Amino acid sequence: MPRVTVIGIGYLGLTHAVCLADLGHEVLAIDVDEEKIAKAANGEVPFFEPGLEPLLRKNLDSGRLRFTMSFADIGDFGDVHFLCVGTPEGESGRADLGFVYAAADALAPHLASACLIAGKSTVPVGTARQVLNRVRATAPAGQAVDVAWNPEFLREGFAVQDSLSPDRIVLGVTSGRAEALLREVYATPAAAGVPLLVTDLETAELVKVAANAFLATKISFINAMAEICEEAGADVIPLAEALGHDARIGRRFLSPGLGFGGGCLPKDVRAFRATASALGVDSVVSLLTTVDAINQGRRDRVVALARDTAGGTLAGQRVAVLGVAFKPDSDDVRDSASLAVCARLAAEGAIVSVHDPVAMPSAAKKQPGLVYAHSVPAAAEGADLVLHLTEWSDYRAIDPAALARVVARRVIIDARCCLDAALWTDAGWTVHMLGRSRGSRGTKLLEGSGGQEGSRARGHAGRSRPKGMSGGTGPQGVSGG
Ligand SMILES: NC(=O)c1ccc[n+]([C@@H]2O[C@H](COP(=O)([O-])OP(=O)(O)OC[C@H]3O[C@@H](n4cnc5c(N)ncnc54)[C@H](O)[C@@H]3O)[C@@H](O)[C@H]2O)c1
Repeated sequence: MPRVTVIGIGYLGLTHAVCLADLGHEVLAIDVDEEKIAKAANGEVPFFEPGLEPLLRKNLDSGRLRFTMSFADIGDFGDVHFLCVGTPEGESGRADLGFVYAAADALAPHLASACLIAGKSTVPVGTARQVLNRVRATAPAGQAVDVAWNPEFLREGFAVQDSLSPDRIVLGVTSGRAEALLREVYATPAAAGVPLLVTDLETAELVKVAANAFLATKISFINAMAEICEEAGADVIPLAEALGHDARIGRRFLSPGLGFGGGCLPKDVRAFRATASALGVDSVVSLLTTVDAINQGRRDRVVALARDTAGGTLAGQRVAVLGVAFKPDSDDVRDSASLAVCARLAAEGAIVSVHDPVAMPSAAKKQPGLVYAHSVPAAAEGADLVLHLTEWSDYRAIDPAALARVVARRVIIDARCCLDAALWTDAGWTVHMLGRSRGSRGTKLLEGSGGQEGSRARGHAGRSRPKGMSGGTGPQGVSGG
């Protein structure tokens, strides 16, 4: 069995290292962040990922998984080196490849014999070949060093499951030797029936960004439909449900709302657009420009709706926010649409009190000016407006009658379109859902006051809906990874 190293132990790398060790491989992992290495070596996952910590401990105990901060150790140990460092958004939306090249440069001098570098980071097409040329130029093993690209599709919140049983494994290779090594690494999932697709380097790099572009397009498509529903007096929730029953379309990623965020989709869409622009492919540029603009527009829409419900100004308004993670089951706030909305509300003078089941420490680091409350009632105490921005299942279990007792005004904006509107209106709340009301123009289809509009709202969005329709198209905050 090839001996494996993992370079970069963030969300992707640590999960990959743990899961490969769990599949029976000898794994040595490295990061430049000393604190992360110390924590991981001690059995602690430095971020929130369900199910990862017990698996980390199990594989540390077995001795199959070890950590180091020495690239010399990594070079000596590995037959296959998985490159899992970050590729954040750089200038003009381009991917910043600084970490990729720094890791390759740090590793190359320690590659004394034949080995394979397998990139997993999401990179612009052409990067793998740059890494190949760069490493061969400086590694003592020279041409005996090979490079492959093996993009990763895991979703935060489901990372362990996605790593152990992925939908597919894509191997971009330039040699039979590289393919054979990677087939050995992935022998267990392949034997279990996971499709394994072998391509050239460029196609493998493009598969990843094309997948994320498609997912982002699907989300922006349904959000564009939400906009037309609002203007036409229609309801985007049953519309999405009806579209999703078409097997050619499918239900997933068809949840209207605040749009996508996180450490992958937004930056990958922009980086892909920048690549397409550099290659002169205008069709991709215009498609992704529109996808990104629709997505950003959702944040504007929520802020405008909040301002309207507050009577035209947010200054001095107490706003309680439920959820700041970019999606449920994650503590990741990178490009979180929720946190971006919070920042804008605060910039307009609102007093923003935030709750999130796990993401408050990471949010507080990024956005220290907000009030971080230890519970939902504490966040909502005296609130003029409640905003539901991340669709944690905990929030669907809130008792609206109990929450009504602590707020100043019973007004809620459900920016994820997944609360049971009838339950909230019955408890006296005015409920605004994106794609179902014209709140910013003063027309409220979902009123708690029990008037004609309120009863219409119940017909639209309440208990008369088919079972499972509430949030039934899946959470929109889910990132493609
Ligand atoms: N997070 C996801 O869900 C996900 C899914 C699929 C693909 N990806 C892609 O995987 C890559 C990593 O994403 P992430 O979310 O894990 O990022 P991350 O920021 O959580 O982790 C990156 C890690 O790399 C480390 N690092 C940076 N430079 C290094 C170096 N020279 N040597 C060793 N370690 C170094 C950092 O300290 C950090 O711990 C990105 O390209 C991302 O687009 C991420």
